[in-house]
Amino acid sequence: MPTLNEIRSTFLNYFAKQGHEIVPSSPLVPRNDPTLMFANSGMVQFKNLFTGVETRDYKRATTAQKCVRAGGKHNDLDNVGYTARHHTFFEMLGNFSFGDYFKSEAIPFAWELVTKELDIPKDKLLVTVYHTDDDAANMWKKVAGLSDDRIIRIATNDNFWMMGPTGPCGPCTEIFYDHGKSFWGGPPGSPEEDGDRFIEIWNLVFMQHEQFEDGSKTDLPNQSIDTGMGIERVAALLQGTNDNYSTDLIRSLIEASAHATSSDPDGPGKTHHRVIADHLRSTSFLIADGVMPSNDGRGYVLRRIMRRAMRHAHLLGSQDPVMHRLVPALVQQMSAAYPELSQAQALIEETLLQEETRFKQTLDRGLKLLDDEVAGLGDGDALPGEAAFKLYDTYGFPVDLTRLICEERQLELDEAGFEVCMEAQRNKARESARFQTAQIEWKEMEVGPHSRFIGYNSYNVETWIRRFAQNESGQWLFTLDTTPFY
Ligand code: GLY
Repeated sequence: MPTLNEIRSTFLNYFAKQGHEIVPSSPLVPRNDPTLMFANSGMVQFKNLFTGVETRDYKRATTAQKCVRAGGKHNDLDNVGYTARHHTFFEMLGNFSFGDYFKSEAIPFAWELVTKELDIPKDKLLVTVYHTDDDAANMWKKVAGLSDDRIIRIATNDNFWMMGPTGPCGPCTEIFYDHGKSFWGGPPGSPEEDGDRFIEIWNLVFMQHEQFEDGSKTDLPNQSIDTGMGIERVAALLQGTNDNYSTDLIRSLIEASAHATSSDPDGPGKTHHRVIADHLRSTSFLIADGVMPSNDGRGYVLRRIMRRAMRHAHLLGSQDPVMHRLVPALVQQMSAAYPELSQAQALIEETLLQEETRFKQTLDRGLKLLDDEVAGLGDGDALPGEAAFKLYDTYGFPVDLTRLICEERQLELDEAGFEVCMEAQRNKARESARFQTAQIEWKEMEVGPHSRFIGYNSYNVETWIRRFAQNESGQWLFTLDTTPFY
């Protein structure tokens, strides 16, 4: 049974043999896309190659990309730990063609890799194509010998992939694995498609268009290929399970969590261990890529994930900080593929320890406030939004943590009231920012964009000052043209 690390190597080596450059994962913080919070698929680092803005000395690439999906309004954070396939961190394997090969090579590559290299039985596989894509359907028939009932035509956006509201896009074809009748669920396109039986393992996107803000699309200069395979799902099926959390790599983190908290990995605290294992990966990789816990932006997403994990460790009865003790287990599993993890190990451990120590001090006080609030509630009352806001503002409880605690106590939360308080705080912050900028007079040496960040590649740079100012406390502020400081 192949380990997850072996599956990653099999994938990358297969495409290297087919003339693809093995390109390292890009950092989780996108370098070329301020609109995106975190890298969420393999193509993010190649966006400009698809649009033709940039060229490189290779036209075929393959990657194992670190991905985080936890920010924004529609994130899955609350589900993580409770389901078989939700993660804040996951790895996406991909092969890419930048104006080189297209459908007629991408489909045979995928089929050979899945059925020969990974040895997945053909009779367990089925595919979807975009409803108008006769070429792709015919190729699947020819290359894989799939019967018509196992080539499902889908008319929705499920088979038209877009990186976001704007950017490169195109129809796609997806490969599904049938876990068998013992799992509930129906094939893609059926009303039961969201069950656990038919699981998508690989998405091949035929990049042909670019979408713009006004909704219009143009043809890309070249037809390209972008694919995404969820390694945890493939590891699950190759290791004879339907649950990503039972695969070797994640299981070893669950066991580390159980060991550190002296509890049973499969006992009543099972979900807590799953949350901790998942969040250990996202928090460690985010810190390794330069994100630090804070109260806004990416740092706030990191803090929310950290605190959610810490809360679950607390629920396991741990009195002392736990998360930092699990980092060696993660480094052991993943640093061969991602050396930045061992390079940043000390920073990750220290950051987790500091955050957990601080959080523990506030957790008890916050829980006390919550107890006092709850004591005053009658049957059917919700926790007032102001209380949730105070927990957030004074005690550092992210609202989803408060939501979790409310759920545990079978209480509703006044979400709308919380939002009103948050909006009032945002308005106050905006007012104060306006006031502060009014006090500072910048002297522009050179008008231009924000500093160019080069810290991913270099720690030294000779540069110049674009502008400077003195604030009301007498401190000097300046903006550099180029900076290695995050
Ligand atoms: N870019 C292909 C995918 O994320 O599925």
